[in-house]
Amino acid sequence: MKKFPFVIFILQISFSALTLAGQGTIRQSADKLGKNIGVAVSNQFFRFSDDHQYKTLLKSEFNTVVAENVMKPVSIEPVRGQFLFDKPDSLIAFAAANGMKVRGHCLVWHKQIPRWMNNDQLSSGELFAILKEYITTVVTHFKGRIFAWDVVNEAIDEKEADSFRKSAWMKVLGPSFIDSAFVWAHRADPTALLIYNDYGAEDIGAKSNAVFTLVKAMKARNIPISGVGLQCHFQLGKTNFDGMKQNMERIARLGLQTQITELDISLPSDQLTNENYEKQAREYEQVMSLFLKDNNCTAFMLWGLTDKFSWIPGFSLNKRGSALVFSEDYSRKPAYNSVFNLLNKSVRNK
Ligand code: G3I
Repeated sequence: MKKFPFVIFILQISFSALTLAGQGTIRQSADKLGKNIGVAVSNQFFRFSDDHQYKTLLKSEFNTVVAENVMKPVSIEPVRGQFLFDKPDSLIAFAAANGMKVRGHCLVWHKQIPRWMNNDQLSSGELFAILKEYITTVVTHFKGRIFAWDVVNEAIDEKEADSFRKSAWMKVLGPSFIDSAFVWAHRADPTALLIYNDYGAEDIGAKSNAVFTLVKAMKARNIPISGVGLQCHFQLGKTNFDGMKQNMERIARLGLQTQITELDISLPSDQLTNENYEKQAREYEQVMSLFLKDNNCTAFMLWGLTDKFSWIPGFSLNKRGSALVFSEDYSRKPAYNSVFNLLNKSVRNK
């Protein structure tokens, strides 16, 4: 009889040990599987000390980073001829010190460009020279340190007759600026993967058809494009994952990679229920499953580490939020657990 509490005590110790042993991080599995899994690093990163919870979590949970803002043209060259590389360089140094890869985001976009560059009154010769100089300078600066660049971001607008967004680049230079951007980036860093990146083009539909048409034609013209970035800014319950799989497969058949570049799955702010967190977890699991089953998909990036700094509440005027896998207090959400468990399972089945 007296042995009984002792047995319970031993069982409790073993259970705790098992639980501890069972705890791990997303990164441990990602590294074992040789998969690039990461997050976008928000501007707050640059204000935090080295031992801040944000940085500790970032390097223990992920093996890949991308700058959410500081590698965009408005941050890199706010004044013509003055390139600001300090913040990106410090992020890249952090990544190197912790054995992490870096994605580059983004070289050409219609947003977050300095006023002097975003000017459709410039002559085509002038804008052509500006873009060429920007891409060449920036990609050369980071040469060998960025494994994949988002070269052109969001150039498709499927509602336009020709499917091209009427940015200053498009209005002044015409669609050939897209080819040129890839050629210049490739010349400056021939080993980096060069990606066309867009949102709302994840499953089969008018927009992904237009992206597909664009990249297929680029391949046919021998433009050095490596793949298509699927941003994946999802709203809970709205994604057709079978369609996404089909889209990834047709891109692969072109000889192009895919990358999941900016995943988040937002919830309505007035419906933050346990049920919705579980649904969100199942959707994260579906995206991770697509990624793990497809060796042609070469990155899985979340658009932020924690809900605390996510772009969604600000952008949606607080109507949506809670889109990431770590909550505002940095605790693991059901979405974290689903992704973590699926990765562990993949490691066990390897
Ligand atoms: O830089 C100014 C700063 O000087 C000022 O003090 C501050 C005050 O609000 O604003 C700062 O700029 C903000 C910037 O983020 C940096 O924090 C902009 O107002 C804000 O609009 C900007 O939002 C970014 C957005 O791109 C711009 O379109 C988000 O953080 C970023 O998550 C988002 O990321 C994009 C991807 O690059 C491309 N795909 C879509 C994705 C989500 O929109």
